[in-house]
Amino acid sequence: MSATDTGESLALHAISLTLNGQSHQLEVHPWTTLLDLLREQLQLTGTKKGCDHGQCGACTVLLDGKRINSCLTLAVMHDGAELTTIEGLASGDRLHPLQAAFIKHDAFQCGYCTPGQICSAVGLAREGKAASAEQIREMMSGNLCRCGAYSNILAAIEEALPECRQEVQS
Ligand code: FES
Ligand code: FES
Repeated sequence: MSATDTGESLALHAISLTLNGQSHQLEVHPWTTLLDLLREQLQLTGTKKGCDHGQCGACTVLLDGKRINSCLTLAVMHDGAELTTIEGLASGDRLHPLQAAFIKHDAFQCGYCTPGQICSAVGLAREGKAASAEQIREMMSGNLCRCGAYSNILAAIEEALPECRQEVQS
């Protein structure tokens, strides 16, 4: 690789993102993950860094409506994408049904995994596949909870899923 090539590959890249409904023009290094862009560059710290290796789900966000581990993907790959984080789920003062259900069912202890759990469950609702508690458990298995609040998390998701699906269809 020539010096020029190296210089070009290390340069900042311009991307545009629609983030929680707002348009952003950004400059990112080619090695910046989507998670670091959110937390370090945009100070959106609701999305958590757990393992940084795709193993815990704490960093889950919705990219073009689909759940994704934001630690495993580079920001520069998503020019023009639409991104939703935990900060973008509520409508004004009205919590997203999954946020309300997590509170109602006390579905957290330390809360560190919670933003990822909720974003993942929103993605799950959009996928429209989970029809039973067993399937919810299986399809949420990429989101770990070190506090072991799994039974309450499951209860919250089971309750909110029908309302979430209605929102997707309307
Ligand atoms: Fe991304 Fe753990 S921080 S999967
Ligand atoms: Fe603590 Fe899940 S509530 S890690």
